[in-house]
Amino acid sequence: MALQLGDTAPDFTQDSTEGPISFHKFLGDSWGVLFSHPKDFTPVCTTELGAVAKLKPEFDKRNVKVVGLSVDPLPDHKSWAKDIEETQGTKLNFPLLADADRRVSNAYGMIHPNANDTLTVRSVFIIGPDKKVKLSITYPASTGRNFDEILRVIDSLQLTAKHKVATPVNWKDGEDTIIVPAVSDEEAKKLFPKGFKTVKPYLRYTPQPNK
Ligand code: BEZ
Repeated sequence: MALQLGDTAPDFTQDSTEGPISFHKFLGDSWGVLFSHPKDFTPVCTTELGAVAKLKPEFDKRNVKVVGLSVDPLPDHKSWAKDIEETQGTKLNFPLLADADRRVSNAYGMIHPNANDTLTVRSVFIIGPDKKVKLSITYPASTGRNFDEILRVIDSLQLTAKHKVATPVNWKDGEDTIIVPAVSDEEAKKLFPKGFKTVKPYLRYTPQPNK
């Protein structure tokens, strides 16, 4: 069965551009993003890896370790990294797993045989410090992902892990949040000293509690 939200992210040891990685140990107490791309030396993947490298300071700020993956071998990754630097204007500054034996791709269900039986699709997993899967998305090979959206989800996950709120449609860090229905108005008065606005009994907005 496919990996589902709340499942423990499978642990593994695999080669990468930064040496062998034992995944759970590598993550330590950090959050993690593990994402696959179909193939080295392909155009969309080249732009994605450049974009993630440029966003590295944003991931660092949020205590998130990013790991990429394809089933290409390590020498290909190392050679392609030079192209990424040349064309995207940034060094590959996070590890890229060389999953030639598909150990990780199979454990995470990153190969979808009816789409392509040899290459990984564009999977993204966000993993919490408890090593549980918090988000899983899959994009087709022809569509480059929006990694700003991944950061937005991480902001929401990190906020909602600490406060009894959820985040509304298209929410961005700094905007009003929604008080979860399990919290009574009485409790909300104590938990949210900045106050809250009741639109419906089940729809109550409060300023972002950690700002
Ligand atoms: C790409 O990264 O450009 C790509 C990879 C596999 C299939 C289609 C596009």
